[in-house]
Amino acid sequence: MQKSIAEGSTSSNMNTVTHKKRRKIIQVEDDMEPIAKPTCPAVQSDNSNSLVKRNSKFHNDNDITRGTEKIKIPLIDEIGLEPPKFLYIPQNISYQDAYVPFSTARISDGDCCLKCTGDCLSRRVPCACSRETGGEFAYTSKGLLREEFLDACIEPKKHDLFYCQDCPLEKAKNDDNPEPCKGHVLRKFIKECWRKCGCTMNCGNRVVQRGPTCKLQVFSTEDKGWAVRSTQYLPKGSFICEYVGEILTNTELYERNKQSQVNERHTYPVLLDADWGSEQGLEDEEALCLDATRFGNVARFINHRCSDSNLIEIPVEIETPHHHYYHIAFFTKRDIDPFEELTWDYGIDFADVEHPIKAFKCQCASPHCRDVRRKGW
Ligand SMILES: C[S@@+](CC[C@H](N)C(=O)[O-])C[C@H]1O[C@@H](n2cnc3c(N)ncnc32)[C@H](O)[C@@H]1O
Ligand SMILES: [Zn+2]
Ligand SMILES: [Zn+2]
Ligand SMILES: [Zn+2]
Ligand SMILES: [Zn+2]
Repeated sequence: MQKSIAEGSTSSNMNTVTHKKRRKIIQVEDDMEPIAKPTCPAVQSDNSNSLVKRNSKFHNDNDITRGTEKIKIPLIDEIGLEPPKFLYIPQNISYQDAYVPFSTARISDGDCCLKCTGDCLSRRVPCACSRETGGEFAYTSKGLLREEFLDACIEPKKHDLFYCQDCPLEKAKNDDNPEPCKGHVLRKFIKECWRKCGCTMNCGNRVVQRGPTCKLQVFSTEDKGWAVRSTQYLPKGSFICEYVGEILTNTELYERNKQSQVNERHTYPVLLDADWGSEQGLEDEEALCLDATRFGNVARFINHRCSDSNLIEIPVEIETPHHHYYHIAFFTKRDIDPFEELTWDYGIDFADVEHPIKAFKCQCASPHCRDVRRKGW
């Protein structure tokens, strides 16, 4: 996904109520209340992580989704970790001020496949819903992301930044005198078939909207708190889950982050900033992000890895062509063995000491870990 708002570095922006496009902001959150230790993990002098709270009891749950997903997602505690404090929600919910209009009227006939029946992927000539992905559907008939599309999403991420004229992120921090935009990652979108399309729910261009289907588990780790793995083999391009949370405006997020500092928690929001660059003066209620701290789905347990993470986050249009609201979906970047931990790169700049949210001490174990503090200084 993109960099978090909290990082204040490259992030994408949101779009306005007008029909302009924009990309979403993803936020990675660190949801946990400080538990045993009073200070936040990032400033502790030892290598411990306050998320890893030992307890004499083992906290297991046979389905953290509370029956809200088609699959059960168990939580397996092998070390006596504090149970997570949050409410599982399978779909995003708007917190307060965020403007998230879903209206079929806003989907023009040319922007959907009214005349399709059955499965759009089985057509000889791809229908209008493949336009966003260059005239070919993003998915294969097996429900995987097409390799070419996936590779293009993985590769350009590092270089392609755009800069807002009027950055919603900077405005949230200081409306009177905002700093220049620090840049947002330019993302490729997937557009799925939506309500106005004539195909069925089983259409191959409806993957993310059908929700997670692979066998996921939340499990306890020694140094990163809870984590996520799959008990089945996952081929490259598999959809894992969406990043679900509360939809906040940038200002609401900024206020929350300030509060988190008081509470010594850190939150890594996911900005829906994928199209901010094309906006001229995005209104605050349209510059959105996702916060999975209090309400979220299984994605809130996926840990960060600085390089070679096995998941990538991709913006997905499901209800509306207007890019100030979209979904963030995780796909596998390569084949993944059963029980391998699933990780993604939060985009954290560990060197940014000015950042309002103190980063955790990274335990990703990658040979290219970006957190120099892990080496002992
Ligand atoms: C989105 S949550 C991931 C789930 C989390 N481990 C939990 O127990 O709820 C992000 C938090 O997990 C921890 N975390 C994630 N990746 C980490 C890493 N590479 N090293 C250390 N801690 C990590 C940090 O405390 C971070 O703030
Ligand atoms: Zn379709
Ligand atoms: Zn910006
Ligand atoms: Zn369609
Ligand atoms: Zn790292």
